[in-house]
Amino acid sequence: MMKLTKEEQEMLEGKHGNAVKQSMDILVSLGEIFGAKRLIDVTSVQIAGVSYHNLGDAGLDYLADLAKDGKVRVLTTLNPAGMDMENWKTLGIPEDFAEKQIKVIDAFKRMGVTATCTCTPYYVGNKPEFGKHVAWAESSAVCYANSVLGLKTNREGGPSALASALTGKTPEFGMHLMENRQAQVIVNVETRMFTITDFGALGYVIGKKIGNKIALIRGIREANTEQLKSFCASIATYGGTALFHMEGITPNSTTIPKESVSVSKSEIDKAKEELNDHDEPDIYSIGCPHLSLREIEDVARRLDGKRVKKEMWICVARPIKKRAEEKGFIKMIEDSGAKIACDTCMVVAPIKGRFKCLATDSAKGCFYGRGKNSFRVVFKDIPKLIEEATS
Ligand code: F3S
Repeated sequence: MMKLTKEEQEMLEGKHGNAVKQSMDILVSLGEIFGAKRLIDVTSVQIAGVSYHNLGDAGLDYLADLAKDGKVRVLTTLNPAGMDMENWKTLGIPEDFAEKQIKVIDAFKRMGVTATCTCTPYYVGNKPEFGKHVAWAESSAVCYANSVLGLKTNREGGPSALASALTGKTPEFGMHLMENRQAQVIVNVETRMFTITDFGALGYVIGKKIGNKIALIRGIREANTEQLKSFCASIATYGGTALFHMEGITPNSTTIPKESVSVSKSEIDKAKEELNDHDEPDIYSIGCPHLSLREIEDVARRLDGKRVKKEMWICVARPIKKRAEEKGFIKMIEDSGAKIACDTCMVVAPIKGRFKCLATDSAKGCFYGRGKNSFRVVFKDIPKLIEEATS
């Protein structure tokens, strides 16, 4: 049994309202299933399950019910929704879907959620200090939070993340405890990593090799934050891990495990082959996870003065779009015919059936493009994607 404080007990008994009571029911049940001894405070929340495509009417009703008296207690942002909340028509989203998606976001807003819909919350102000406990839900963001930012979070489901937002609490188990954050297997990388697709392929190979074990990765000489973001998305997708250590690069300390495996150049090459269906793309999508300002600038400069010949989505958080707009990057992109897709991405938007083959630089995007939207996929770095889409 978990030990609750007096306030937590009152929350559970419904003295702080229905939304808090429902939330405490979820958190206490989860804590008991996973053997937590207590609840702890969280500094921030990131909620997944925002697209009406995934929620349906039952999910919308659930949110509307909580919104009657629920108010978030900590900074809370949202994962991508099923459409750009302003320019959904440009992306070809049907009107009836848009109406429902707007209702979903309105319910979150009534609860005080910051309605920025992104899988990179750390680019838009949801970036607590090293060591803080948070409750985040999106798998790539969870892996980035634990591994790169040194935060502590389990991979929450949509309802448990929202429950943490409405109470400011989470049960203390899993990634919140130091003993569960130690490396379990050394991964020696025997080849140099240079590009985003190198890091995506590396996540694919390691994920398939060690599953959700915690890796201590050795042999990476350098990795910028965008490369780490891509690696996090990939290793979390193909292995399910919420944490890794990269020697000399990530900030957490760890004990040294005995077991070790290695990754060779031929395995990286083979992974890139396996992630590529060698078909003719009819949609290009860049920004999975959502792009940083630095990446937007790079994309804008590559597209400047050119015309895209195919549908192209550039996915980004709305506050990053605003900053990019001030610098003239959005005009450069839109003048080329490419579309900026804020608040959403090619996986959570309802575009199944509209396109046959997705070209992307994201190993994660390949997985969900194939699995969720039944696309064929082409996996290439951004310079190549842009060159092909404009020629
Ligand atoms: Fe983000 Fe969508 Fe990729 S939520 S990580 S852009 S699949």
